Amino acid sequence: MRKPVIAGNWKLFKSIAESIALVDGLKPLVEKNRDVEIVVAPVFTALNRVSEALKGSNINLAAQDCFWEEEGAFTGEVAPKLLKDAGCSHVIIGHSERRQYFGETDATVNKKAKAAISAGLTAIVCVGETLEERESGRTFSVIETQIQGSLDGIPAETLANVIIAYEPVWAIGTGKTASDDQAQEVHSFIRGLLSRLSGVTAAENVRILYGGSVKPDNVKGLMGQSDIDGALVGGASLKADSFAAIVNFNA
Ligand code: 13P
Repeated sequence: MRKPVIAGNWKLFKSIAESIALVDGLKPLVEKNRDVEIVVAPVFTALNRVSEALKGSNINLAAQDCFWEEEGAFTGEVAPKLLKDAGCSHVIIGHSERRQYFGETDATVNKKAKAAISAGLTAIVCVGETLEERESGRTFSVIETQIQGSLDGIPAETLANVIIAYEPVWAIGTGKTASDDQAQEVHSFIRGLLSRLSGVTAAENVRILYGGSVKPDNVKGLMGQSDIDGALVGGASLKADSFAAIVNFNA
């Protein structure tokens, strides 16, 4: 059985004080939920203080990016082991906003994912097609290229430390979520692909999250799909009550 994951990607929102206030509001709303792996991803500067605020809770901490080297003359970068040091257990890698605005490629995503796994982090690796790619019938080939490139050389036994997030770019921040069937179709394609690349067992165990305008009122339908194992939530993760309603989708 794959344990569902609900992860909140806070993107470039919230000061340290606002981040702590958000998790303080969230903790009591989700404390009874032992069925879901709950993750929040604040900005770098808030990570360590949020990690203190999360101590003893059932909420895990993620960063929104990392570098692949452990140390060196790499101004502005943060190594995976420093994210561990700050209290992270997870890291989001290759979000479409990083691919779109910061030149992230499948090759850099791959290096980051391997480095994150080596440091003992769970890598949440993001893939997803643009509207233009979907409308020209290239969704599956785009996803296949992204998955192959991003996971290249990661052995099957290490896939347990990888979570895939399928986030169609056209659904991010637009209020236009993929339908349950549209999402399931791509999730099932990804699982089939992983099964060819890494074997059936590894593929059956990998959690594949959907992201893109997930809200309290559409999460249940998405989570009812056989290959959707969770959600990566942007806007609705910025408020304790809406994120808790998504985490507690089964309550
Ligand atoms: P929204 O939920 O705001 O559409 O963002 C999705 C996302 O990009 C999560 O990583």
